[in-house]
Amino acid sequence: MISSCRQTVNKQFILTLSIGVTAGFMVAYVLLTPEAIRRIDFHTSSEMANLAGPTMDPGEHGIEEEFHQMEDREVANKMYNKVRILCWIMTGPSNHEKRARHVKNTWGKRCNIILFMSSKEDDTLPAIALPVGEGRNNLWGKTKEAFKYIYHHYRDKADWFLKADDDTYVILENLRFMLLPHQPSEAVYFGCKFKPYVKQGYMSGGAGYVLSQEALRRFVEVGLTNSTRCSKKNSGAEDVEMGKCMEAVNVVAGDSRDSMGRGRFFPFVPEHHLIPGHVNKDFWYWQYIYYQSEEGMNCCSDNAVSFHYVSPNQMYVLEYLIYHLRPYGISFHVEMPQELQDAIVGIQNKNSTR
Ligand SMILES: *[C@@H]1O[C@H](CO)[C@@H](O)[C@H](O)[C@H]1NC(C)=O
Repeated sequence: MISSCRQTVNKQFILTLSIGVTAGFMVAYVLLTPEAIRRIDFHTSSEMANLAGPTMDPGEHGIEEEFHQMEDREVANKMYNKVRILCWIMTGPSNHEKRARHVKNTWGKRCNIILFMSSKEDDTLPAIALPVGEGRNNLWGKTKEAFKYIYHHYRDKADWFLKADDDTYVILENLRFMLLPHQPSEAVYFGCKFKPYVKQGYMSGGAGYVLSQEALRRFVEVGLTNSTRCSKKNSGAEDVEMGKCMEAVNVVAGDSRDSMGRGRFFPFVPEHHLIPGHVNKDFWYWQYIYYQSEEGMNCCSDNAVSFHYVSPNQMYVLEYLIYHLRPYGISFHVEMPQELQDAIVGIQNKNSTR
């Protein structure tokens, strides 16, 4: 009696166990389809819409420690004053807390001026309320209003004007280094160049793009005043409309690659570019990119400027990897670039004639 009872229990137990194991495998199989695995590497804004960022403030990484004291920031500091960059971040009321705040806490600190463009004011960021609606159908309208606002209030306060999304991560020092040989008076803009729709190409919106002072002037004064040059609608693909408009006012779509031909602006997260075969060869990106570019570890410039679809958590990860983690015993020395030497030579000449 006892033994048969135990047998029944054992049978039930094994049955339950095997159902559980089978169900477990089935759930895992459904969740881990290639599609689900790819989700970790985002390709559209809607995939990122419900991502939760840090709920507690990650705080600051102290730079008082010995290791950071050994850093020489002279070139970066000089570039900060010589190549002044105003960053404006495309955001919206539902993303002030979720995303914009984390841009401000991380890479946004290194812009000479940072502005958050929204449709609702927010003193904590602070965000500017532009007279446009929210949503994808207003992105082009919002971009025009943002650049108009900047032209009217800030055109002399910076040399270059960067548009980035609230899920773009930007390495400002590398952007300044790329722009250093160029003048703000050149009619040029830089970003991740795409091939279709516009003859000279256009810059991906998500990877961010940067306009010279002259490009900004032409955009607002020559472009926005004439609807044949720049579309009057609020809708349309923001980056394509911008590209058409820039071409119409003779602003050159610049080449942002480094001396080795490697890209600097990227429309996806580093993982997407570094790991070959992350997406198949018929993925739209390969038809869109203007310059041949490699997949794998050789994809990206050592002076990369931007990555897109960076989750709020990843902003802090990149911040740590780029600005704090260092392999002990390897130091890095840069020559003072020629463009930054002029001021020093000027002072020396003055001294030697004394
Ligand atoms: C508007 O731009 C078009 C194309 O550049 C040009 O042909 C036209 O003369 C311009 N109109 C005005 C009023 O400036």
